[in-house]
This record gives sequence, C-alpha cells and structure tokens, in this order.
Amino acid sequence: MSKKLVIGNWKMNPESFAVAKAIAQKTREISMKLKNTEVVVCPPFSFIPACVSRNQPAAFHLGAQSVSFEESGPHTGEVGIKMLANLGVEYIITGHSEERAAGDTDEMVSKRIFRIVEGGLTAVVCVGEKNRDDDGVHLEFLRKQIKGTFANIPEDKAKRIILAYEPIWAIGAKEAMLPEQVYEMSLFVKKIFADVFGHEAGHKVRVLYGGSVNFRNAGDIIKVGKVDGLLVGRESVNMPGFKELLKAVDAIE
Ligand code: PGA
Repeated sequence: MSKKLVIGNWKMNPESFAVAKAIAQKTREISMKLKNTEVVVCPPFSFIPACVSRNQPAAFHLGAQSVSFEESGPHTGEVGIKMLANLGVEYIITGHSEERAAGDTDEMVSKRIFRIVEGGLTAVVCVGEKNRDDDGVHLEFLRKQIKGTFANIPEDKAKRIILAYEPIWAIGAKEAMLPEQVYEMSLFVKKIFADVFGHEAGHKVRVLYGGSVNFRNAGDIIKVGKVDGLLVGRESVNMPGFKELLKAVDAIE
C-alpha cells in the first residue's frame, strides 16, 4: 500500500523567519516517527530556506505555493522553477482557488503545471467547485475546469501530477465536506482525469482532499473518503493540531 500524503499549505503564514523555522523543525520531528505517511510543507517563498535542514527525514518534503510559468528572464516579482528546485523543493501547489480568485485562469494554471512537470517536479493541482447544487451544475463546472486546467500537458507527464480536490465552499470554513461526499467526488475527478490522460493515468493518479481538514476529521476523510491524502491549510501551522492530525492519518493501515 502506498503511503498517505499530507501537504501543509501555510498560505501567508507565519510572520517571521524564526517562527517558520520552529514550525518546520517541529514538523520534521513529528515526521521522523511516521510509518505510513509522507509530509510536505509549503511555506511562502521567503521562508523556504527556513525549512531546509541538513537532516531532512525521509518522510519530510519541501513544497511551494506557486511558481512562475516563465522559465527565466526579466519578470519582476516572479519566482522561477529552477530557483525552487535548487532549494530542494519537490512539490508545487498550483490552481489553488485563492490564486484563481486573484486572476489565474485555467490557461494560466495549465502553463504553470507545464513549467512544473517539465522541470521534473510534482504539481499539486487544485480543482473544486464554488457551490454544490442538486442539478449537478457543479459537476459540469468541475469537468470544464479539469479539462481546461490540463489542456496542453503532455500525456507522459501525468505521473508528475497530484489532484487536490478542494470544494471552495469548504476552504477556510467551519466544516469539511462529509467523508461520503469526498469519496464520491474523488471518483468523479479521477474519471475526468482519465478522460484527459487515459485510463491507466486515471487509475494511478493520487487524489487529495482539502478544505477545513483538522485533527478531528482527518482520519474519517481518509478512511471513508478513500483519498490518498490531504491538503491542509490552517491546521498545518497550528502545531498541536497538526501533530494530532498526522498521528491520526498515520494510524490508518
Ligand atoms: P483550510 O485551507 O484547511 O484552512 O480550509 C485549505 C486550503 O486552502 O488548501
């Protein structure tokens, strides 16, 4: 059985390098004891060096929250794929609803994914609907979003993609999606992925759930929702909570 993947999206937290260093250190210590789980921390760009250590446990990995779709050149304010790879970053989140709300279109997300997978890193691609409705409009929305997001990605790069299903209404909310619904939706997004990349890729792609995951609901989301892991926002910078969350996920056989 493959290991569960828990990705911590720190968003625009914390406020100082020293605190970032302390959170990373704690996460590293916890990850040393994990048997069935891999952890990825995704700090803001400026704090990635705070999360690098000479003794990086095997279960601890570095991620970033975005990347420029330009490879190099005069692009003020941008951070390039090689810079991140040279810091030891292995995973990059893209297509997050907060980045989409700030202006990223499916086409731009697709360009970022291209840059990530061509650079040999793994793209954690977020997809998700704004609302759910009884008529299934959200399913049609997701189908379009997934197809648009993966347009122009070479088929042989599917193995460098992880799907993070994050219903927008559950992000930063009080409650996560119900685990039974997570199961249903993870099958749906896999199916669309298979439509784009082929049956085998659809079978193999790892699907994570994200949106108000905490130490109380993480276990059930994995067990009942049958996802390969979690994308965690707030709880990933809340140390006692994140420790309990990782313990709960790791306890699942
Ligand atoms: P949340 O964020 O866990 O704080 O809801 C999840 C995310 O945005 O990835």
